[in-house]
Amino acid sequence: MLVRGKMRLAETGVNVVPVPEHIAIIMDGNGRWAKSRGLPRFAGHKRGAEVVRDMVKGCQELGINYLTLYAFSSENWKRPASEVADLMGLFRLYLTRELNELHRNNVRVRFIGAREGLPGDIATLIEQTEEKTRRNSGLNLVMAINYGSQNEIIQAVKAVAKDVEKGRLTASEITEHCFAAYLETADIPDPDLVVRTSGEQRLSNFLLWQAAYAELAFVDVHWPDFTRECLEGVIRDYQSRERRYGSSSK
Ligand code: FPP
Repeated sequence: MLVRGKMRLAETGVNVVPVPEHIAIIMDGNGRWAKSRGLPRFAGHKRGAEVVRDMVKGCQELGINYLTLYAFSSENWKRPASEVADLMGLFRLYLTRELNELHRNNVRVRFIGAREGLPGDIATLIEQTEEKTRRNSGLNLVMAINYGSQNEIIQAVKAVAKDVEKGRLTASEITEHCFAAYLETADIPDPDLVVRTSGEQRLSNFLLWQAAYAELAFVDVHWPDFTRECLEGVIRDYQSRERRYGSSSK
């Protein structure tokens, strides 16, 4: 029986609230984690990559369908060249070492973000990873690399303008639904829950359009310390909220 959108197990009285279909995470705090241990920033990113592996496994086990990870923003190029190189090295390693395991586990891996500007071998790895896992039907892992939401929206606006110019679309046909199809996330459902670790409370150019109705969770834990228990904690908190999409409360 359905009680306010929650399914109730008749005999037990236990409410079973669905897990979010799509969780998007801003993985913040690698640098501070490393600094607090007297380690170089790279150590934080390295540990952060290990947490990525745990989270993919955790999301699979919890029945989450989509996990989007903000791995490198279009603004991250402003970091020292050595740190950028370290991060690119980690992506290279992750995509090489984890690919078979991800594929074996039926994970479909996709990428959002500008491919131009990335080192050529990483762009190739991205294409190979997407191609190899294209038919997988398990967890959808979306990696945001060289991603910036404002740029994504500008590119979508340009594509819409072009279609109007060519007579393929009229101005009156442009709706939220139609516009979303021009974004890189066209066939990905909007995130239900956006998590940011490390205590900062901002979106930093991440999924600005897509997160319009997402629940937000700001967690006071640096990403390298984000555990399976932390993941379950944010999901439980999400499940206790009432999503209203602009309507009045029940
Ligand atoms: C933010 O922490 C984190 C990043 C900019 C990089 C995220 C990358 C990883 C978690 C590792 C690699 C990921 C994959 C997918 C293999 P920060 O450096 O801004 O931390 P700070 O705010 O404490 O300085």
